[in-house]
Amino acid sequence: MRKQIAIDGPAGAGKSTVARAVAQKLGYVYIDTGAMYRAMALYFLRKGIDTQDCAAIEAVCDGADITISHEDGEQQVFLNGENVSKSIRTQEVSQAASVVSAVPKVRERMLVLQRRLAQTKDVVMDGRDIGTCVLPDAPCKIFLTARVSERARRRFEEYAAKGEAADLATIEREIAERDERDRTRKISPLRQAQDAVCVDTSDMTIAQVIERVLAIAGGSAWK
Ligand code: DC
Repeated sequence: MRKQIAIDGPAGAGKSTVARAVAQKLGYVYIDTGAMYRAMALYFLRKGIDTQDCAAIEAVCDGADITISHEDGEQQVFLNGENVSKSIRTQEVSQAASVVSAVPKVRERMLVLQRRLAQTKDVVMDGRDIGTCVLPDAPCKIFLTARVSERARRRFEEYAAKGEAADLATIEREIAERDERDRTRKISPLRQAQDAVCVDTSDMTIAQVIERVLAIAGGSAWK
């Protein structure tokens, strides 16, 4: 059986930074499933489709071909052959991804793609429903979380580092909205799997979280 580490949690808990580092350390492939939902959202936004219009989304969904590849260990996401890895990192796409990820057909397509990726390689996969739905048999499941105010502060710093203007209060409100939507949607809502270990990263450094996750992975069934 393939080695699988499932990392779930709300936006800004540190999932992608930690998952990338853990994958690198263990020689696994890092798969950022949020980026796949973001690419899908970008497709609808570019088509001018109302992201709240479930029927319209389901009607054009099949026209989006989403693939991923890795360059120097970094995941690259392609939408119909175009590398959209940078264009998906905007606040508009973040919100749209959270909305369209509640559409059943969108989730079905992503699920097939994500499971296929995990069959061929040892993976660290991060998202919202990896431990509960995509890889329910993963021997190592982690739920990363942190206080909303701390998660907003981290996102604010990320935008500042990129030289992008951002407002802390707006970020915090948007993160809270996104959490609520991700937690309350009908299919595959964000929740901790029963057999996942919860790590609250609010008062931890990234290095401490990576160490903790490696320790949890080290105690998993495949060792
Ligand atoms: O992790 P992220 O912020 O890049 O994810 C963007 C959105 O995609 C998030 O608000 C919810 C959705 N998502 C999901 O529903 N299931 C996943 N496995 C990953 C992301």
